[in-house]
Amino acid sequence: MTAADPQDFSIEIAPQGWRFDCAPAQTVLLAALAQGHRLPHSCRNGTCRACIARLVEGQIAYRIEWPGLSAEEKAAGLILPCVACPRSDLKLAAAA
Ligand code: FES
Repeated sequence: MTAADPQDFSIEIAPQGWRFDCAPAQTVLLAALAQGHRLPHSCRNGTCRACIARLVEGQIAYRIEWPGLSAEEKAAGLILPCVACPRSDLKLAAAA
């Protein structure tokens, strides 16, 4: 096992308490899957919304211009981890 890059951010998934590292250029979903955490997903391109989650703490940037969320959903803190890259340490929770 290699040590985490010091530029990686720490991601926490509630309520499971899962923690994993994510590089700034990596999506949260791919980092989770690569480190053995089975987050819900399907399309992996910001369309199907299967991965929708709530951003409890932290900042993200999207890899695509128009992730499949309404302005209201974004304002409510919902994100799509399959196209979201961390810009800080993050804490995520189930969207419901
Ligand atoms: S997996 Fe389809 S929107 Fe994220």
